[in-house]
This record gives sequence, structure tokens and C-alpha cells, in this order.
Amino acid sequence: MVKICCIGAGYVGGPTMAVIALKCPDIEVVVVDISKPRIEAWNSDTLPIYEPGLDDVVKQCRGKNLFFSTDVEKHVAEADIIFVSVNTPTKTRGLGAGKAADLTYWESAARMIADVSKTDKIVVEKSTVPVKTAEAIEKILTHNSKGINYQILSNPEFLAEGTAIEDLFKPDRVLIGGRETPLGRKAVQALKDVYAHWVPEDRILTTNLWSAELSKLAANAFLAQRISSVNAISALCEATGANVSEVAYAVGKDTRIGPKFLNASVGFGGSCFQKDILNLVYICECNGLPEVANYWKQVIKINDYQKSRFVNRVVSSMFNTVAGKKIAVLGFAFKKDTGDTRETPAIDVCKGLLGDKAQISIYDPQVTEDQIQRDLAMNKFDWDHPMHLQPTSPTAVKQVSCVWDAYEATKGAHGLCILTEWDEFKTLDYQKIFDNMQKPAFVFDGRNIVDPEKLREIGFIVYSIGKPL
Ligand code: NAD
Ligand code: UGA
Repeated sequence: MVKICCIGAGYVGGPTMAVIALKCPDIEVVVVDISKPRIEAWNSDTLPIYEPGLDDVVKQCRGKNLFFSTDVEKHVAEADIIFVSVNTPTKTRGLGAGKAADLTYWESAARMIADVSKTDKIVVEKSTVPVKTAEAIEKILTHNSKGINYQILSNPEFLAEGTAIEDLFKPDRVLIGGRETPLGRKAVQALKDVYAHWVPEDRILTTNLWSAELSKLAANAFLAQRISSVNAISALCEATGANVSEVAYAVGKDTRIGPKFLNASVGFGGSCFQKDILNLVYICECNGLPEVANYWKQVIKINDYQKSRFVNRVVSSMFNTVAGKKIAVLGFAFKKDTGDTRETPAIDVCKGLLGDKAQISIYDPQVTEDQIQRDLAMNKFDWDHPMHLQPTSPTAVKQVSCVWDAYEATKGAHGLCILTEWDEFKTLDYQKIFDNMQKPAFVFDGRNIVDPEKLREIGFIVYSIGKPL
């Protein structure tokens, strides 16, 4: 029986390994992590992450050929294939701070693999890493040359949160990069054999190592660029009376452009887009390509602009001050169908409103008060570095309350901001909400999910992204 071990039981490691276990009953899969609470949660009825369909998959294979453990060294030593799916956040200190990827977690995983291995291993980069990381990992793995053969593969993950299981069941493509040597090709084939249990062969792409590493950064940069492009156009729509939904529809009808990923919003969030583009920018700068670096930097600048534009719109519409006013925030996760708040635009919007002394009442169906308070008290980039988690502005946090009901959040509020596109926000009783709000009652829809005309009929003053006022 082939044995797989995955280091890192997070949003990627957990779901990907659960799906491999489900689709490959002949393979034993163990997911290991240094975080005891995370592993305990994976072994309990309440999984550590909310992801539609995940519970089902885990229930079907846990205890059969899928295991979660903190005994990292034992399972690494026993495995034939080791996936490394640890976090690779943006560096907060030292060389490249604020841009470069922090590979501390990756390096410590690689050193541990080198220390405990007694047999040949295939080591798979599942985390998103800078191009050429495999070269560094190879050096670490072979530094004490015990005669063990390590083959490094790059197998980046393309799943999106909220649809992770669907994406893993039917991926657009699986990408595997390896060394172009006989042993390298053999390793690529071994990993291909795993995916071939359920992924059609023409969707399994093989490339050299550097192309695979770079394709992941490029794919995220292209995706984020589409959002910044439509968000940039949304600002122009507001200035001219055009409607961004109509423009995006018309533009996306061109089959060369396509209709997906053109929803204007308050800005993109999530743990990866910003981090990976900053990483790409840093790599370009290090390779003497400042023009290319500046091109991609603009995608982040427009995203920051979109978030601050939203805050400015709220404050300026409400007579230039929100001091002491209650503002309801519906949705805190970075997108619907996840409880993940990493880099959610809601953090910047709430911090902006708190800076203007608003009182904020937040409701999100999947995010706890603890998480929200922590997010709002944290410095930029510190969220993925557990050791730097120190609240920076405890007074701001007192202006925030979190409730478990949209009606409670909006009661007595002057304004209401929709920051996540949860389906339930589309069908709220807006008449009831209006009746219980201060007047004039404002709605700022950062996701374009409500019908502005219907809300205006009720009596709201409505602002939607990129739509006529
Ligand atoms: P995560 O923070 O949810 O999970 C990483 C896990 O690794 C944590 O549980 C941490 O405790 C563990 N870890 C860190 N160092 C370790 C070590 N030395 N030994 C054992 N465990 C260790 O991160 P994630 O969202 O799963 O992302 C992982 C990687 O995948 C990142 O590089 C990310 O860019 C990439 N990625 C993420 C997504 C996504 O949707 N979240 C999608 C594609 C790619
Ligand atoms: C994204 C990519 O879609 C995945 O392919 C990739 O694997 C992953 O990043 C990663 O590397 O981490 P994810 O961040 O989970 O996945 O979610 P997306 O659906 O891409 O949404 C990202 C952000 O963009 C969200 O805040 C979402 O609301 C926003 N968005 C998305 C828009 O504002 N408009 C759109 O049209 C689409």
C-alpha cells in the first residue's frame, strides 16, 4: 500500500487529503500538524474549517484510510510521498518584508523530513511558493546526505474556498512539475497515478519544476487582475452613470474574455491573492524586472483603492461623519460559504469606519466574535504569523459588537454595509430592517446582491458598487 503523509492540516491539506483518501481506497493518507487543537478538531465532529461537502468526505474515510495526527515525525518517516502544505505568509520583518514569502514553516518542515527519513521519498510542494523554491528545498533535504534519494515535485493547489470539494472532485487541471531526469520522471508518474484514480488524463499537466511553481503565482495574479480590472471600471461607472453589471456582462460575452470572475465588489480578500501577487512582485524586483513588478503591484493598489473608496462613500454619504453612529455590517468572511476571514475586505472597511469613530455591529453566519475581535486588533500581515499576534488598538475593539442575527445587527443603525455575499442576505425582510433603523436609512452594498430599486421603494438611500445613484 502506498503511504502518503501531508504536513499541514489547514484549508488545503485537510480537504485535498480527504479527497485523495476517498478516491484512492488503496492508499493510506495521514495528515499531520504541529497544532494539537487543529488535529483534535479534525478527529472530532466539528471540523476546524467550514467547507460545504467536507464533513461527508471526511466521515466516509476517517479511520479507514484517512488519519489525522500530531505524531509528525513517525508518519513522515513511514511515508512514500510527503505533501508539504504549510502556510507561506508574507514576511513581516527583514529582507523583503511586506512582499517576499516567509518560508520559515516550509524550511522547518524540510529539515524535519531530512532528519527523520530512512527511505527514499517523493516530496511534493503543495503550498504556494516562490519560483525556484524546489532548488532550496533540495539543498536542505540533501544536506546531510544519508544516501537517501529525494525527488521534489511541484503540485500547486488551485481550489477555491467555499467550493473546495467540488473543485477537488472536478479540477480544471492538476499540475505536476518535476525534474527532467529518469528519477524525476518516475516521481511525476507516481503522483500522476494518484490523481489518475479520478482525474481524466488530459487534465493532468506535467511541466518542469519552475513552470509549475510560477504557474500558480501567475494564475492567482491573473484572477486577481480581473477583479481589479472590473473594480477600476466600477469607479468610472459611478462617475458616468454606466452600470458595472451591464458593462461586465457585455464585456464577458466576448468568448475571448469570458463571463466568470467579473463581479465588481468592495475588493478581493482571502489568504492568497494579495500574498501571492506581492510575492510575484518581489521575485520580479529580485530578477531586475521593475516594470513587470510595477505592472502587478497595480492590481493590489486598485484593490486597496476600492476598499478605501467604499469607506469614503459611507462616511461622505452620511453627512461626512459616522462618529457615534451605529453601522451594521452584514458579512465578515472574505467570501460566502466559508468562515475564513484572512485578508477579508471587511477588516479594512471596519477599521476605516472605526477610525471615523463609528459604532459597529457585525453579523456573519460563520465567523465568531473572538475571530472578529482578533482580526480587528491585528497589524497588516500579522494574521498568518501566530507568534506576532498582539492586539494593537484595544480601544477600537470596544466600538465593535458581534451578534448572531441580521435584524439585531441592524436595529437602531443609521447605515448598513453588506460586505459578504451570503445568500441569506438576499432574502432578508428589508422592510422590517428599514422600520427598525434610524432615518434616513442607508444601505451600502459592497457585493451588489440586493436590488437597489426595490430598496429605494422601501425608503432606503442605496449605494451599490458601480451603479447609478
Ligand atoms: P493554513 O494556515 O490553513 O494551514 C497550514 C497548516 O500548516 C497550519 O495548520 C499549521 O499549523 C501547519 N504547519 C506549519 N508549519 C508546520 C510544520 N513545520 N509541521 C507541521 N505543520 C505545520 O494554510 P492553507 O490555507 O491551508 O494554505 C497552505 C498553503 O496552500 C499556502 O502556501 C497557501 O498559499 C496555499 N494555498 C491555499 C489555498 C486556500 O484556499 N487556502 C488554495 C491554494 C493554495
Ligand atoms: C483563489 C483562487 O480562486 C483559487 O484558484 C486559488 O487556489 C486560491 O485563491 C489560493 O491560491 O488560495 P479563494 O481565494 O479561495 O481562491 O476564493 P475566490 O473565489 O478566488 O475569491 C477571492 C476573492 O475575490 C473573494 O474575496 C471574492 O469575494 C473576490 N471576488 C471573486 C470578487 O470580488 N469578484 C469576483 O468576480 C470573484
